[in-house]
Amino acid sequence: MGDRQIRVGLCGFGIVGQGVFDHLTRKRKLLGEQLGADIVVTRVAVRDRSKKRDVQIDSGLVTEDSLSVGTDPDIDIVCELMGGTGLAKEIVTRALAAGKIVVTANKALLCDHGKELLATAQKHGGHLLFEASVAGGIPVIKAIREGLIINDFSRIDGILNGTCNYILTRMTNEGLSYQEILGEAKAMGYAEADESLDVDGIDAAHKAVVLAYLAYGKWTNFQEVRLAGITKINQEDIRFAEDNGYAVKLIASLERERQSKALYVSVLPALVPKSNSLGSVDGVFNAISIHGDVVGETVYIGPGAGRHATSSAVISDIVDSVKLLIFGGPEGRFPFLDPAPKNGSELPIAQPEEVHSRYYVRMRVDDRPGVMAEIASILASRKVSLASVTQKEVGENAEKVSLIITTHMTTEKAIEETVDDLGRLDSVLCSPMTMPISEFGQ
Ligand code: NAP
Ligand code: HSE
Repeated sequence: MGDRQIRVGLCGFGIVGQGVFDHLTRKRKLLGEQLGADIVVTRVAVRDRSKKRDVQIDSGLVTEDSLSVGTDPDIDIVCELMGGTGLAKEIVTRALAAGKIVVTANKALLCDHGKELLATAQKHGGHLLFEASVAGGIPVIKAIREGLIINDFSRIDGILNGTCNYILTRMTNEGLSYQEILGEAKAMGYAEADESLDVDGIDAAHKAVVLAYLAYGKWTNFQEVRLAGITKINQEDIRFAEDNGYAVKLIASLERERQSKALYVSVLPALVPKSNSLGSVDGVFNAISIHGDVVGETVYIGPGAGRHATSSAVISDIVDSVKLLIFGGPEGRFPFLDPAPKNGSELPIAQPEEVHSRYYVRMRVDDRPGVMAEIASILASRKVSLASVTQKEVGENAEKVSLIITTHMTTEKAIEETVDDLGRLDSVLCSPMTMPISEFGQ
């Protein structure tokens, strides 16, 4: 082990913070030999010191004053592992303003304030590293920044939320409802403190915004992401998918429209062919398919949430930070850690009439003559072409029935207008559930 000691402060000692501490402590000697420096956690901030922890820690290291950890002059690397966008932002801003290296796993913070935080780092000679913010243990940020640097990306599609993929997989395999499984995803440490961030698709949208910045150099407004979560997915959707060679997945997509070059950013539940590289990625695993103009398609798969996967990514940022502190050039910068962003800040956002897909629509309708004709007439008026109609046979006295249609290729605008029109029919009993059928062509 080298003589140099690198001091790390952890703000947050929950699922991720304890994992980082535990693995850094267990592998301290090995890392020291590899890096020629001794990485030691010298301070840890929590909200409640009296809380029982899973991991043993010297209580003298622990404080409830997280701001003081962020600004401690004796700390070289500050890890923000608290979550939220209030206090976390203040700690990160102050640490960066003090020229420190900050490592964070906080995608909500990056989505809302990444632009200004990176500017603060640049201004004061600090660095902001965030490998754990997207896709848990998969080093996808390194892949985009470093391994794929020569590529322009036509599209990036990903399963970016481990909680949702875990829930959808168990709904498929065990026939359970999403509410029945959510508690287990929380107990496993996959879900956010506020689980609606997961199941409403918000967490995946935060990650999509971060990826869009890395891949295209554009900070997309959260409101510009086309967003739906998994709370409306039921067993009928899951069974339809199973019967027709698909899986239901929450898919984040970044896509450059071919003609206008506008950027489309979405997080939507989708029917994905099982034969597709994302179609059979199950459980807490995430997967990302990236189409680059030089390399073609590359696919990355691995655990997307939980203590160990996330710690692995946080520690890779800590190790990069150590290299920077030890080997950094005269300006103290390594271009690969924060290269100039791609020049996409002016990219327009794609409009619904530019976005093409096939769609799945499920509705509950009155079981009486003429209903199918009304529905078909609405589709025709919006120039949406039917690809299939599925209605399970029901008894003679049934009053309501589920009807599932799939469409040929159409636009997002046309399907939205169609669904609005369908929802206004007296015979359609509640707002139809719709999702794209994603083929992920180049
Ligand atoms: P967590 O288990 O809820 O832990 C949060 C930690 O922050 C706790 O130690 C908590 O203290 C501390 N904390 C929260 N508010 C605080 C405050 N106001 N002052 C001082 N300490 C405060 O959360 P987590 O799952 O570890 O997630 C942490 C971050 O990593 C989040 O940004 C999350 O989005 C991100 N992330 C999580 C995962 C995952 O799989 N869990 C994966 C990737 C990224 P107490 O323990 O005393 O309450
Ligand atoms: N709650 C997040 C997920 C944690 O389930 O993917 C990883 O970012």
